[in-house]
Amino acid sequence: MKKEDIMNIRKEFPYLDEEKVGKKIVYFDNGATSQKPKCVIDALANYYSYQTANPHRGAHYLGMLSTELYEGARDTVRDFINAKSSKEIIFVRNTTEALNLVAYSYGLDKLKAGDEIILSIYEHHSNLVTWQFVAEKTGAVLRYVYLTDDNEFDMNQYKELLNEKTKLVAVAGASNTVGGIIDVKEVTRLAHEVGAVVSCDCAQLIPHVKVDVQDWDVDFLSFSGHKMYAPMGIGVLYGKKEILDSMVPYMYGGDMIEYVYEQSTTFAPVPAKFEAGTQNVGGAVALAEAIRFMQRVGIENIHKHELDLTEYAYNKMSELDFVEIYSTKNYNRSPLVDFNIKDIHSHDVSTVLDTFDIAIRTGHHCAMPLHSYIHQNSTCRVSFAVYNTYEEVDFFIDKLKEVRKVMGYGS
Ligand SMILES: Cc1ncc(COP(=O)(O)O)c(C=O)c1O
Repeated sequence: MKKEDIMNIRKEFPYLDEEKVGKKIVYFDNGATSQKPKCVIDALANYYSYQTANPHRGAHYLGMLSTELYEGARDTVRDFINAKSSKEIIFVRNTTEALNLVAYSYGLDKLKAGDEIILSIYEHHSNLVTWQFVAEKTGAVLRYVYLTDDNEFDMNQYKELLNEKTKLVAVAGASNTVGGIIDVKEVTRLAHEVGAVVSCDCAQLIPHVKVDVQDWDVDFLSFSGHKMYAPMGIGVLYGKKEILDSMVPYMYGGDMIEYVYEQSTTFAPVPAKFEAGTQNVGGAVALAEAIRFMQRVGIENIHKHELDLTEYAYNKMSELDFVEIYSTKNYNRSPLVDFNIKDIHSHDVSTVLDTFDIAIRTGHHCAMPLHSYIHQNSTCRVSFAVYNTYEEVDFFIDKLKEVRKVMGYGS
């Protein structure tokens, strides 16, 4: 995209209004959550201002409107990920809830002692602790795929791990720490050869690339709205309908039932079976608006700009002899650079950068096993979105040198 296009996109983001925010922020913590464009904020405010009622319940104008908007948002998500049916789209709070739904309703019910679950060492705790829990309860065993020398998912090792005992493969679409992208389509093809089901944690991939669940043939796919320009509190679990139909509910209560008797209940068909209680209609409406924002800009355009920016930052950072980079070198990665500054704790790096109004993420990024694997307790991460610029990267590189000085290193 041309500079002018990025400048126009920036105008849509209220967080860049220095006067209202009180300062000019260089926001490089997009992997944690993205900023929101005005159209998304307006969609949310409009729903709560003029369109609110409890969906699926009230036989009145606003009740029906709310239902229409909610189900319309479901259709938008269906088209966005190319699902076969809107019944395969379940609205949840976030990726964590989606992954827990798979773990509780599929994992606990269908896995047994001796079955094997394959994870990658990339996994965020929400796609790792959940499977530890299932393994503990069922007697299933966890197996890990580790990384190549460039911190990429080791497909050859994955092939060696697959066997007739493999019942579930749970992998991230992209690492939130080292940025490597997993070929989910190939992982799924190979898993299906041994009869295993594949659950993809797409939280870090879907804000950047076009996802096609039918082409990938993946069985489950989870993501959060808030990492892709939508509000917090809305996320999606995609599941193949025949698998969702075979699963027990995750939560029980209103709107997920068919008939309730004193001693037993029959359940509503999917997706309602998995959406107990009052739904987050405003969130779903705003998520649909965020999808339209991404489509208007063009997902390929977003990804290309972010990748070019990442490459630029990566190369500039590589030139600094006090910076150690852990991200994959591969151009085709999640748009982030994970690093440390020699002899300085990551939290100090972040604190000093914050004095220059640069927001980065530090810590273990909810990926402690990955950090152990790369022999670091804690790392710094800059992660980019469509509104970030080369000038911001230059400013960051400049201030990275200052961090050294502030901490008493270099001249
Ligand atoms: C790869 C990955 N999976 C899952 C999550 C959890 O997302 P949420 O906190 O929105 O549930 C994150 C959040 O950073 C993530 O990066």
